[in-house]
Amino acid sequence: MSSPVALVTGAGRGVGRATAERLARGGYAVVAGVRDLDRAHEEYDDPSALTLVELDVTRPEQITAAAAVATELAGGGAVDVLVNNAAYAMMGPQESGDLDVAREMFETNVWGAAAVVQAVVPAMREARRGTVVTVSSIGARLTNPLVGFYHASKYALNALSEALSVEMGPFGVRVVMIEPGMIDTDFPSATRLTGGVTDADSPYAPLFGDLRAGFGKWRERPDSSTAATCAEAIWDAIHADPPPIRVVVGDDAAELDEAIRTSADDAEFQQRLRGFLDLDWAPRPPDPRT
Ligand SMILES: NC(=O)c1ccc[n+]([C@@H]2O[C@H](COP(=O)([O-])OP(=O)(O)OC[C@H]3O[C@@H](n4cnc5c(N)ncnc54)[C@H](OP(=O)(O)O)[C@@H]3O)[C@@H](O)[C@H]2O)c1
Repeated sequence: MSSPVALVTGAGRGVGRATAERLARGGYAVVAGVRDLDRAHEEYDDPSALTLVELDVTRPEQITAAAAVATELAGGGAVDVLVNNAAYAMMGPQESGDLDVAREMFETNVWGAAAVVQAVVPAMREARRGTVVTVSSIGARLTNPLVGFYHASKYALNALSEALSVEMGPFGVRVVMIEPGMIDTDFPSATRLTGGVTDADSPYAPLFGDLRAGFGKWRERPDSSTAATCAEAIWDAIHADPPPIRVVVGDDAAELDEAIRTSADDAEFQQRLRGFLDLDWAPRPPDPRT
């Protein structure tokens, strides 16, 4: 029997690369979509174990070409597994964050993922089998300050995934959302900083300082994830029977999931989230008019 076929986006590094390598080790014929082919050929331990293709998910012609490579590996039929992983973040206060950067980020995180689904899922539906994995975030169900635009993209991604999972149910196509907390990857260095968020004289400078410290401490928690543990969670989700709708990855994410599910109201949840990150940024009453 021929190998099952997987297409992974954002496989240049981090979770995408770890997942592509995990699937290849597990016997999949993997098409790993990367933006920089030369770099991937240099950095992958064994580039010959999979098929590296150039794939920027904002480039429709590259999506079509990558899907065609995967389809050919599948003998002209449906790809078995799609891992929609490519994404990056931006920071910026909502009052001044750069909306052009936000739109560009949505092109990757939301519309890019949707376009890859449209390239791959029709054949899965016709074949009545296949798995779509959306690498989302626990931050698709909670929002940290100064990162609202990124969270908005992940909320949107979850909305599309949840709808897809219901749409595909009767056709035997499985759709899984992966929701990690913090993952120790190069994600922060790819994050675009806008709206003067790093300016020392910004009104948000104290919040930014707290947030950076909170994220730093969170990153050092031993129960947060690595690219390898995420890849393992993705492997398990692909092979679980019955398939999970949502997989919360890491004890850190599980703690936040519990806070989301058990807070009595939104104000209590916001307070718990501020406590999680140690943010000294509680709401205050407005100044009275003089
Ligand atoms: N790290 C975290 O703490 C964390 C937490 C929760 C969820 N996540 C999610 O986990 C996923 C993987 O993130 P990561 O931590 O592995 O981050 P990462 O190391 O920064 O990897 C992101 C990958 O996405 C690729 N990418 C970015 N824009 C792209 C585009 N337009 N087309 C194709 N590829 C693109 C990057 O390509 P290049 O290599 O060419 O730059 C990179 O390979 C993302 O969906 C992220 O939102 C991350």
